Amino acid sequence: MNLLIKATNLRKFFGDARAVDGVSLEIAGGEIYGLVGPDGAGKTTTMRLLVGALRADSGQAEICGYNIEKQTEQARAQFGYLSQRFSLYEDLTVLENIRFFAEVRGLKPDEWRPRSLEILDFVGLEKFTDRRAGQLSGGMKQKLGLASALVTRPKVLLLDEPTTGVDPVTRQDFWQLVIRLTTQGEGVSVIISTPYMDEASRCHRVGFMKDGRIIAEDTPSKLRTKLNGRILELRGAPIKVLRRVSHQDVDVEDVQAFGDKLHVRVGKGKAQEVISRLKVQIGSEGGHVDELRVVNTALEDVFIALSESK
Ligand SMILES: Nc1ncnc2c1ncn2[C@@H]1O[C@H](COP(=O)(O)OP(=O)(O)OP(=O)(O)O)[C@@H](O)[C@H]1O
Ligand SMILES: [Mg+2]
Repeated sequence: MNLLIKATNLRKFFGDARAVDGVSLEIAGGEIYGLVGPDGAGKTTTMRLLVGALRADSGQAEICGYNIEKQTEQARAQFGYLSQRFSLYEDLTVLENIRFFAEVRGLKPDEWRPRSLEILDFVGLEKFTDRRAGQLSGGMKQKLGLASALVTRPKVLLLDEPTTGVDPVTRQDFWQLVIRLTTQGEGVSVIISTPYMDEASRCHRVGFMKDGRIIAEDTPSKLRTKLNGRILELRGAPIKVLRRVSHQDVDVEDVQAFGDKLHVRVGKGKAQEVISRLKVQIGSEGGHVDELRVVNTALEDVFIALSESK
């Protein structure tokens, strides 16, 4: 397999904080790998280790076969990195911003200019080349960030929460761009962190991080099967009673609001008995059930379960 990202047992502690605590990754060309997990799980630190912005306490990282610490220049030439809090130069225009990134990466004017125009066209900013970055919308800024990361034609893209705070339509555009990059030619490898479960579902594989470790890693559909038959959808009233009664049941592990419904996670093989008990118990406490059934697991259910796991 053509591995473009390979990390072995990466570790980085900040004092007592075990930011990254033994992370290994193998990501192939054309693959979109999603890194998800709660705040402070270590996603950003993992990416910073992969790009050599931080030195690992131990472990190895290779980008396209180049060791990030020993062959830094060659490794750096292979990737584009959009950091979580990247900054654009607000007083510079769109084109000038890209030019800045290109020059830092050593591209000459006859290389960067055609390449920049091609990329701005690709991300849909071709009409805004002369607009100051400070006057772009949030989503346009993210696209300019992506454009800047693409200017060297990287084989590997590291995107740290590139769509956070961006509206759903622009998020969709952004994903179309990412998918095109991975399906064109040899296909770049993408590692992307995101708080949005719909985005995690679009990744080929997802790694769930918690306390500096990847505690689960699989395709979205395989991750979902772990909770198959264990998520009940409950609709009725009053919601306070539904919630209280569900929580009190011995076989209920968790209760979460999903719009006007509750998702009730039950122990393995317990769905039918919980359904029978809840119907009776909710009725006897003055509530009523409109709907109570096993539903397909959402990735969000899986992440909630993993976040709670010890
Ligand atoms: N430079 C630093 N100095 C000290 N502690 C740090 C530093 N960078 C990260 N940490 C700590 O390491 C842990 C992991 O942080 P990191 O930013 O990697 O998490 P994250 O998963 O990216 O979180 P978020 O979802 O909020 O972006 C946190 O406890 C954080 O406080
Ligand atoms: Mg982060």
